[in-house]
Amino acid sequence: MSIPATGFGHYQRVGAGYAGRRRPDPRIAAQVLAALEDAKTVLNVGAGTGSYEPMDRMVVAVEPSTVMLSQRTNGHPCVRAVAGALPFANDRFDAAMGVLTIHHWPDWRAGVAELARVAGRVVLLTHDTDAAPDFWLMEYFPTMLERDRKRMPPVDHVCAALGGRAETVPVPHDCTDGFLGAYWRKPAVYLDAEVRKSMSGFGLLSEDELTTGLLRLEADLLSGEWDRRNGHLRDLDALDIGYRLVAG
Ligand SMILES: C[S@@+](CC[C@H](N)C(=O)[O-])C[C@H]1O[C@@H](n2cnc3c(N)ncnc32)[C@H](O)[C@@H]1O
Repeated sequence: MSIPATGFGHYQRVGAGYAGRRRPDPRIAAQVLAALEDAKTVLNVGAGTGSYEPMDRMVVAVEPSTVMLSQRTNGHPCVRAVAGALPFANDRFDAAMGVLTIHHWPDWRAGVAELARVAGRVVLLTHDTDAAPDFWLMEYFPTMLERDRKRMPPVDHVCAALGGRAETVPVPHDCTDGFLGAYWRKPAVYLDAEVRKSMSGFGLLSEDELTTGLLRLEADLLSGEWDRRNGHLRDLDALDIGYRLVAG
């Protein structure tokens, strides 16, 4: 099976409507803003539709997908480019950020080196797959975790590359940004094909793997089995399912 859901080509295919499904979550935005510290000039790489770009600083966005670029509305200047070849001089920005994008870069180390070349500080929101096996969704789609491990760099490697540290980004139960883990307390939402379009992890699955997992999830929700196993989650306000903010 090919693994199509990497790189910006994926967003050319399924990126339409992304801005409506992936609205920045204010609690996560506050964490990103704090990590940017007092940076006055910020580069956002893999910027997509502009989520998490601070509105009180000078921001330039870098994004390769025209489908994503066409949905931008915040007025920040945007350059069509890739992380591995940033068209900026050394130390041009106080900080560079990248939100849930490095797993799409063909060479994450080259991209991180480029961000560090053009900016004094680098802030990356990524996912630690080692923390994900406990996430109930992976029981239904086990091959997603295997394939995510191949495309997502280990967080300690990203920290080492940046000389930085990672902090946990808990996912609120009412998270407004529809990334893969956003609906941990609303399991039925994963049955919606429109919602899954903005979760590249689902694009890693074969039709068989997807259908088998969805049928099992639907059956477990109807029978009450999901609640028997995971009902305790309904009492939590936020959950750590491996999202990490690395800054250095
Ligand atoms: C999950 S989206 C995240 C978008 C945005 N940062 C957000 O938080 O909504 C991943 C983004 O990375 C972009 N991307 C893919 N390959 C890239 C590359 N090599 N360099 C820069 N961006 C890339 C995609 O086009 C897409 O917009």
